Amino acid sequence: MDAGNSPLRGDTGAGPDTSRYLDYLLTNRDFTAPAVAAAIGVLGVDVTDRPVRVLDAGTGAGGALRDLAGLVRRAGNGEGTVRAIDIDARAVELASSQIADAQLDHSVDLYVADLRDVAAEAAAAGRGFDVIWSADVVWPATFDDPATVVRDLAGALVPGGTLALFTTNYYRSMFLPGHSRLERLIRTASELTWGLPDDGSTHYERLGAWMRRAGLVDVGVRVFPVAASTAAEPAARAFLEQIVWPEMRHAVNSQGRAAGMSEADIARAEGLLDPARPTWVGADPDTFVVQPTLLWTGRAATG
Ligand SMILES: C[S@@+](CC[C@H](N)C(=O)[O-])C[C@H]1O[C@@H](n2cnc3c(N)ncnc32)[C@H](O)[C@@H]1O
Repeated sequence: MDAGNSPLRGDTGAGPDTSRYLDYLLTNRDFTAPAVAAAIGVLGVDVTDRPVRVLDAGTGAGGALRDLAGLVRRAGNGEGTVRAIDIDARAVELASSQIADAQLDHSVDLYVADLRDVAAEAAAAGRGFDVIWSADVVWPATFDDPATVVRDLAGALVPGGTLALFTTNYYRSMFLPGHSRLERLIRTASELTWGLPDDGSTHYERLGAWMRRAGLVDVGVRVFPVAASTAAEPAARAFLEQIVWPEMRHAVNSQGRAAGMSEADIARAEGLLDPARPTWVGADPDTFVVQPTLLWTGRAATG
C-alpha cells in the first residue's frame, strides 16, 4: 500500500482507506528502518573530489534521511548534501522532526516540491544528482504513467549516477500467516480499492523495466527482508495493528465480493480482522509478518 498523493477519501466507499495516512508514514518508517538502512548501505558513489548530491524523492516521514546523510558523509569530499522533497506539506513536517531528532540539519535540505519539477530543474541546469533514492513513490496509483516518472528521474542523474527505487513490496508480504487463500483474496480486494492494474505495462512490479526503458544500465534488484514476531516486535505490531489489518478490513468490506470472496470468506476475514473478536489475528501469540522489501538500482551511462 502506498498513499502517494491520491486524494484523501477517508474510510468510506470503494476507494482506499487513507484516513490514517500520517500514522502509516510513521509506523511503516519504523517497521522498515532496518531494510532501508541495509539497502542504502549497498549504494556506492564513485566520486572523491567534490561534494556529492543526493535526492530523496518523496521523503515521506524522512525514514531514509539518516542513512542518506551517512552516504554523503562517506562519499565525495564529505561535504555533500541530501535534498529531501515531498509534495505533501504534512509529510515534510514529519520529516522535519526526523531531521531535528537525528541532528541532520546541516546535511539535509528539505522542502515541499513535486519530484517531477525537481528532476526537470536539475536536468535543465546540468546539476544532476549522484544518487536519487525514491521509496514507495513511483507506482500506478500515484502516477498515470510511472515509466515517464522513472525516465524523468533517470534524466536528473549525473553520468554514472544511481537511481535507487525501493519498494516495501506490500502486496507480496505475509500479513495473515496461516490464512493463505484468504490473504490472497484480500490482497486482490485491496488492489481493487487502489484501482491497480493486475498486469500490463503499468503494473507496480515493473520498476526494473521502467529503468531499462529509461536508458539506465546495470539494472538489478536485491531483496532486504524484514521478518518479525508481532508478539516480540513493537514496531511490527504497531504497523500491523494500526495500518495493515485495518486496511485489509476496509478492503474486504468495500471490494471483497468484487475480489471473489464468498460470504463465508468475508465472515472469516471479519473474524480475523475485527479487534473486538476473540478470533482477531492480533490475539494470536504466534502470528508474524514478513515483508520482502526490494531495491531496484540502475546507473546512468557514462559515455
Ligand atoms: C508511500 S509514501 C513513501 C514515503 C517515504 N519515501 C517512505 O518510504 O516512507 C509516498 C510519498 O510520496 C509522496 N509523493 C507522491 N507524489 C509525489 C510527487 N509527485 N512529488 C513528490 N512527492 C510525492 C507522498 O506525498 C508520500 O509522502
